[in-house]
Amino acid sequence: MSSQNLDKIYDKISSVVPEIEWKFHAPIIDKINKLKKEKDAVILAHNYQTPEIYHGVSDISADSLALALEAAKTKSRIIVLCGVHFMAETAKLMNPSKKVLIPDMQAGCSLAESITGADVRMLKEKYPGVPVVSYVNTSAEVKAETDICCTSANAVKVVESLGTSKVIFLPDHYLANYVQKNTKVKIISWQGTCMVHEKFTGKEVEDIKKENPGIEVIAHPECPPDVISASDFAGSTSSMVKYVKENQPKKVLLVTECTMSDNVQVENPNVQFIKPCNLCPHMKKITLNKIYDCLKNETNEIKIGHNIAEMARKSVLRMAEIGR
Ligand code: 13P
Ligand code: SF4
Repeated sequence: MSSQNLDKIYDKISSVVPEIEWKFHAPIIDKINKLKKEKDAVILAHNYQTPEIYHGVSDISADSLALALEAAKTKSRIIVLCGVHFMAETAKLMNPSKKVLIPDMQAGCSLAESITGADVRMLKEKYPGVPVVSYVNTSAEVKAETDICCTSANAVKVVESLGTSKVIFLPDHYLANYVQKNTKVKIISWQGTCMVHEKFTGKEVEDIKKENPGIEVIAHPECPPDVISASDFAGSTSSMVKYVKENQPKKVLLVTECTMSDNVQVENPNVQFIKPCNLCPHMKKITLNKIYDCLKNETNEIKIGHNIAEMARKSVLRMAEIGR
């Protein structure tokens, strides 16, 4: 990568990455971008990745639905998934012939950890014949017990696609609540929560609105119901990005993992972002150095047992057919 291209990246992110940090990031960004070509790799990054990853090395930065769909399409030999473990597993399910690497195997998710395959079997026994819709934020083992997956971008559409009067919707209790408000299908939910979004409160949002008259509030549907009611719009991380791009609010509050505000801010310089900061410790496990190491040594490869993979793949492919 030429020094001109590196300068272009820094020009873009200089408002959110201090110059002193950039001195450390620039050489490794350069190395990763060269290595990507040598290794025939694509880097897919979630919207919560830090600006130096999101704008510096990622080929596609998006929400979990788009990452899954991009993984299915890629012709590259290797996919490096900069995000959490369930996203890398989903990429592998979508495109099993590719080598899928995750820079840190410990990058988990409180929602994915809230439920096991045995829990889903227990729910199916309790509600015989009721289809299971699993949020993509689940392990392959849970997906294998699932009729169809969804993300926050298509949850209502997926639930309604089944044509039943009831569904088991797991594991996010708040997303289930949000879906219930938007459909007549009866939702049977689980008690999982996102450790980042559950921290926001309606009172906090109302206080920010009072201090910032005219501010537009956009929330992720993993937030508690009082936060969603205090917001102007709720949607997946990519729908939040789209909302800001299309509406260009003067001032905005993105009620979600706070790194995303930095990523969106650099592309919308005329929008002022108010940033209460809740970070996802799992997403933040991914660093430039770990990306370089895993790609160089082709380590941290995602492997899923044959039987689980075959069953889990059906539920993600069914979701992909429904789309956004
Ligand atoms: P999105 O699918 O909206 O990107 O959300 C994924 C996630 O983990 C949010 O916490
Ligand atoms: Fe999981 Fe929440 Fe982190 Fe998203 S923000 S990866 S739902 S813990």
